[in-house]
Amino acid sequence: MAYSVAVLLSGSGSNLQALIDAEAAGKLGKARICFVVSDQAEAYGLQRALVHQIASAYLPLPRTRNSTERPAIRAAWEQRLATMIAAFSPDLIVLAGFMRILSPRFLDQFPERVINQHPALLPDDGGSHYTTSSGIQIPALRGAHVVPDALAHGLPLTGCTIHRVTPRVDDGPILARTEVPILPHDSIETLHERIKLEERRMIVEVVARLSLL
Ligand code: GAR
Repeated sequence: MAYSVAVLLSGSGSNLQALIDAEAAGKLGKARICFVVSDQAEAYGLQRALVHQIASAYLPLPRTRNSTERPAIRAAWEQRLATMIAAFSPDLIVLAGFMRILSPRFLDQFPERVINQHPALLPDDGGSHYTTSSGIQIPALRGAHVVPDALAHGLPLTGCTIHRVTPRVDDGPILARTEVPILPHDSIETLHERIKLEERRMIVEVVARLSLL
C-alpha cells in the first residue's frame, strides 16, 4: 500500500523537487506525494507541484494590525491547514522549508507524523551544543536564520538535520544529520546551497526509509 506524504513549504521547494524526482525514479520506497501546501503565494514550490499535477493549495495566514485578534486568527488558520491536510490522510507530513511554527494543537492531530528539515546541526539531547564528528563543540543553532548565524559565529562547520517535530521548536528525535564544512569565502548563499545539496539527498533517504518501516 502507498505511503502518502504531504509537503508544507514557504519557498523555492528544491527539497520538494528532490522528492518528486525520487518518486518518479522509483527511489522513494512506497512514498507518494499526495498534497503540497504553502503559506506563501509566490513560493516556487507551488509551481513545482502544479507542473507535476500534485494537489496543492495556498493558505495564507491572514494579516491583522490588531494584536489582540492575532492568536484567534492564527488558530483558525492553523485549523484550516490541519483540516486540508487531514483530507489527504497522510502517513507523513514533511516541513520542507515551511517557515511557520506549528502549535501542539496541530501536532496532536498528526501524532508522530510530522518531520522537519533544519539547515543546521541539532544534538540528540535537545541541548544547547552539538559535538561534531571531530569532537568540537559548536552551538546548536535554532530559529529562522541559522545559515547567517553559522557564519556570524565563525564556525568551522555547520550542517543539516531532519528530526521529528515536537512542541519544542527545532528539537525532537533525530532522523538524519550531515556536517557541512564552512569555506573561507562562503556567503550565506553559497553555504546554504551546499547545505541544501545534503538536505535534498537526506530527505529522499529519510522519506524512503520511513515509508518502508
Ligand atoms: C532548507 O534549507 C530547509 O532546511 C529550510 O528551508 C530551506 C528550504 O529549501 N528550512 C528552514 O529554515 C525551516 N526553519 P527549499 O525551499 O529549496 O526546499
